[in-house]
Amino acid sequence: MKILVTGGAGYIGSHTCVELLENGYDVVIVDNLDNSSEKAVERIGEITGRKPVFYNADIRDAKAMNDIFASEKPGCVIHFAGLKAVGESVQKPLEYYENNIGGTMVMLDAMRKNGCKNIIFSSSATVYGDPAFVPITEECPKGNPTNPYGRTKSMLEQILTDLNTADPKWNVILLRYFNPIGAHKSGLIGEDPKGIPNNLLPYVAQVAIGKLECVGVFGNDYDTPDGTGVRDYIHVVDLAKGHVKAIDKIKENPGVKIYNLGTGNGYSVLDVIKAYSKACGHDVPYVIKPRRSGDIATCYADASLAKKELGWEAEYGIDDMCADSWKWQSMNPNGYGDN
Ligand code: NAD
Ligand code: UD1
Repeated sequence: MKILVTGGAGYIGSHTCVELLENGYDVVIVDNLDNSSEKAVERIGEITGRKPVFYNADIRDAKAMNDIFASEKPGCVIHFAGLKAVGESVQKPLEYYENNIGGTMVMLDAMRKNGCKNIIFSSSATVYGDPAFVPITEECPKGNPTNPYGRTKSMLEQILTDLNTADPKWNVILLRYFNPIGAHKSGLIGEDPKGIPNNLLPYVAQVAIGKLECVGVFGNDYDTPDGTGVRDYIHVVDLAKGHVKAIDKIKENPGVKIYNLGTGNGYSVLDVIKAYSKACGHDVPYVIKPRRSGDIATCYADASLAKKELGWEAEYGIDDMCADSWKWQSMNPNGYGDN
């Protein structure tokens, strides 16, 4: 089966393309390189020995999307493309709705016109808002995301579900990611954020390499074992493998399915700093700062449904995640070098 991967040059997309190619799938990437580099595409080829087909195209471009679907005829889409910076989404809601929702509408129309009705969508644990309970199962009610980025994820989940209600030939798998970190074992692909990172791991990595001075820990007065925020960090390669399993599932014409992709383990900010210090061989300095607005205390998955129905389970632990992140960071101190 040929898989069309939107956002396939990005962080999670590039790792997923590697797993797809290594599992024998043909891969077509559509990415406008807004937050990525074509070097990632080359390195996918280097790792797997198979170069994916690459279109430098925007999912909002109806003609380009129609042409690509008509000529490539993919059997399934994995839809990563989108903007993802929470703070920026508060400043630029129109850009976020236009890109994430508008772009997805254009792409879905091209899929429909060309008879491709299988889609795996990158959703997020952010749709649970401040979760009603932890560990979070898929039964946990959706909450109120505190920002436009989170709302695009929640709305797109609904839109995709409505598509299946209108036409049951649509198969939709909503994958709710917890906190993806780490990098491919080769050190050739990894996360390459533009500017100063917003998320914990890339920030810690840049302090570890000496590009930033000190990690600010956002609050140590949460109701958690050490007072700092607890999250379910998941190795990006485990996450990527979850997509390969989701393709197996989509071949069964399952209708709409929702899966949490997490490890089921919660780690605090201080746990992560400690694990990273071990991985890089020296202490990563940190300072306690006030809470970040919109943050929640604790968020971790119950991922047993993915185990039961997809036969997928995360394999890597926090030490592997930090070691692999450090390998990528130290081999590529400036990422792909074009940000
Ligand atoms: P990323 O920014 O590295 O990848 C997204 C890719 O989409 C980039 O390569 C970007 O250039 C591309 N893109 C953006 N708009 C596009 C458009 N209009 N047309 C074509 N390409 C476009 O982000 P990522 O971390 O790999 O995340 C992938 C997906 O997973 C996103 O939808 C994100 O919201 C979701 N997600 C990410 C996380 C996380 O922590 N990284 C957590 C939950 C969900
Ligand atoms: C954030 C987003 C979420 C998005 C996810 C992936 C917010 C409020 N949530 O999740 O919607 O899906 O990223 O892109 O932004 N921390 C520090 N210092 C830092 C950075 C983070 O202490 O410099 C702490 C945070 O307070 C949190 C933990 O580290 O407790 C993880 O933060 P982060 O990596 O930003 O992820 P989330 O907030 O879980």
